[in-house]
Amino acid sequence: MAGEPWRTAVVGAGLVGQGWAIVFARAGLPVTIYDERLEIRRTVMASLEAKLADLHRYGLIDSVEAVAARFKISDNLEDALRDVRYVQESVFERVDVKTQIAHAISNVLSDDAIVGSSSSGIPASAFTEGVARRDQFLIAHPVNPPHLVPVVELVAAPWTRRGVVEQVRCFMEELGQKPIVVKREIEGFVLNRLQGALLNEAWALFEEGIASAADIDRTVSDGLGVRWSFMGPFETIDLNAPGGVVDYADRLGGLFHSIALSRDHPKRWSKDTAIRVGSERRETLPLSDLDKRCAWRDRQLMALAARRMPGERD
Ligand SMILES: NC(=O)c1ccc[n+]([C@@H]2O[C@H](COP(=O)([O-])OP(=O)(O)OC[C@H]3O[C@@H](n4cnc5c(N)ncnc54)[C@H](O)[C@@H]3O)[C@@H](O)[C@H]2O)c1
Repeated sequence: MAGEPWRTAVVGAGLVGQGWAIVFARAGLPVTIYDERLEIRRTVMASLEAKLADLHRYGLIDSVEAVAARFKISDNLEDALRDVRYVQESVFERVDVKTQIAHAISNVLSDDAIVGSSSSGIPASAFTEGVARRDQFLIAHPVNPPHLVPVVELVAAPWTRRGVVEQVRCFMEELGQKPIVVKREIEGFVLNRLQGALLNEAWALFEEGIASAADIDRTVSDGLGVRWSFMGPFETIDLNAPGGVVDYADRLGGLFHSIALSRDHPKRWSKDTAIRVGSERRETLPLSDLDKRCAWRDRQLMALAARRMPGERD
């Protein structure tokens, strides 16, 4: 980082907040961590240390102690934000909760500090309109867990100060994250709109009895997703026709248009289908093993992160 390393703070230390704390600390930055729940403030250090031990096991950090030494737990917001240059807000995904915390943060924020919200789909304008320092807020939406999946969506509100998105983009790059800029506010941003398109189709295919949930999952895990772990949909089709993307659009544009026309009545996911997907999933994974499977997923992500050589994809 040009100049002084930014002091950082994490507000809300659940799944995502803890991931962000690791992102900042492993890049060498001090991080203060604040959560409104005493229970979380008491247990978060142990939880972070366990995650750091896993990262160390996969060769993703050199020293658990050195990274852990950069965390400081704060008992109140004002202390947590003192002299901080970048705040990552990761509280519940609710407009009322985000609005309340945005006001509280704004009241103790210094003039040159920036606040990124982890919001999954609520745009910043929905919870910062009446906030005094609203021009210092933007969305910095990660994928869970942010210390293992690098993309982060940056979305300004109409009143976000000029230059803030660019500053945060550079900051995220320096942290080793992979920022993308969403040019204007839209519900769900880019990531969840893409994910939503796939989920809506998966839901419809299952509901119509076209394939089992396991086979739909396998189509992604052993098919589309294998390529998607290192290139996106546009690059994928560019490489799938001798004349590149224009040739691909000529050859298969008609098919994709016809598929789109067959889905012109969007439906809310029905409870009945959710229960049927759930009972198929529970045959493979009892609910009591969900935590174990999450830990397995994180280990898979760590193995992947350890194999992805920086620069190879760029
Ligand atoms: N979980 C995901 O997959 C994921 C992915 C990307 C983004 N997000 C977004 O990140 C944010 C956090 O999600 P999460 O999954 O970490 O939730 P979580 O429930 O695990 O954690 C939220 C934490 O915020 C704390 N909190 C709530 N109100 C607070 C307040 N006023 N002040 C301080 N702390 C407060 C809670 O005590 C809790 O510990 C949400 O906006 C969510 O949509 C989640």
